[in-house]
Amino acid sequence: MSFGALSSHAVMALNGGAKLGNFAHNTGEGGISSYHLKFAGDLTWQIGTGYFGCRTVNGGFSEKLFAEKAMLPSVKMIEIKLSQGAKPGHAGVLPACKNTPEIAKIRGVEAYTQINSPATHSAFSTPIELLEFIQQLRDLSGGKPIGFKLCIGQRSDFLALCKAMLKTGINPDFITVDGGEGGTGAAPLEYSNSIGMPLLDALAFVSDCLIGFDLKKDIKIIASGKVFTGFHIIKRLSIGADLCNSARGMMLSMGCIQSLQCNTGHCPTGISTQRPALVKGLNVSDKRQRVANFHEETVKSVAEILAAAGLSRTEELNRKHIFRRTSQTQISHYQDIYPPMVAGNLLSEPFPSAFDEDIKQANAEMFNCAACEIN
Ligand SMILES: Cc1cc2nc3c(=O)[nH]c(=O)nc-3n(C[C@H](O)[C@H](O)[C@H](O)COP(=O)(O)O)c2cc1C
Ligand code: SF4
Repeated sequence: MSFGALSSHAVMALNGGAKLGNFAHNTGEGGISSYHLKFAGDLTWQIGTGYFGCRTVNGGFSEKLFAEKAMLPSVKMIEIKLSQGAKPGHAGVLPACKNTPEIAKIRGVEAYTQINSPATHSAFSTPIELLEFIQQLRDLSGGKPIGFKLCIGQRSDFLALCKAMLKTGINPDFITVDGGEGGTGAAPLEYSNSIGMPLLDALAFVSDCLIGFDLKKDIKIIASGKVFTGFHIIKRLSIGADLCNSARGMMLSMGCIQSLQCNTGHCPTGISTQRPALVKGLNVSDKRQRVANFHEETVKSVAEILAAAGLSRTEELNRKHIFRRTSQTQISHYQDIYPPMVAGNLLSEPFPSAFDEDIKQANAEMFNCAACEIN
């Protein structure tokens, strides 16, 4: 969640909480501000289609500005944002009222204008080019981990990315899978409610693809979407995630009362506003401790649930550990709902029938081949 969507005090509370709790804080696509650096909590620097913080005057990607920021000691990983569950196909919108001179300077744009990021990246346009961009960022950052975030739409597009990984020999270090149910400060309601593959299905799909192409051993999967409790984390890890992100859970830990005014600039709790009088109301030293407490208690709950299941490490979780009610009289294992993929099973024909059509449509040279005639 960016500085811009969130206030300076909210960014400081999150980063200060990350430092206290020894976890990482994602910058969102709005760039790195002084508030992200004040407490020296670990950062995942996110780069969206607006390239805020590493943007040329024309809105393209600047190698020079990227290299400068990527070298900051707080920046531990870099995430290229392809899409997010709240609004797949729509990029970020910063309303004019929230685009203060300070935010405009950090982003490299004109103050008090509405900033619409483009829907797609200008630094790459094909799966292979995305992987080459990943390598470019890895080189420019001195070898820091580089990954991407996406909400799954066409299955063949993700399979195209896997084919491109095999073809180029370049892998991302991590992939963040955002569920279609994701939230944001401002998105068209239909997109928030209905567009994009739901998280658990997307997670199973991404995990199966990586295992099927024998890529999982080199790539971590991060799950993002409605993580509020220890059990939510356990469910996601059992399907195939290695770790989880939380956005709205963290907002609640800072005192969000769900008044649904994030896009108006009038957030009453000082979290998603740039109005000084409202921002002042968010007490950073109190809230950073609450952020750290929420994280600690949630992780503690994960450990307790693991112990109750007779396990000692999250890596031991698999799809057999979770039951879901599938009708009034039946329950099923996740393993029955999401049958696990056999390692290497997508490397050559015959492909599993559930993947056959999509894998044949997937093209490492082009996104969205399912909608065109060139396969
Ligand atoms: C206020 C707010 C701002 C957000 N800004 C970004 C952003 O800059 N980049 C991004 O990839 N996702 C952004 N998101 C989406 C979240 O990162 C996350 O993908 C989504 O909310 C699902 O996680 P959750 O259910 O834990 O909130 C934002 C969400 C919120 C609530
Ligand atoms: S209190 Fe309301 S306006 Fe503020 S962050 Fe929460 S939902 Fe958004």
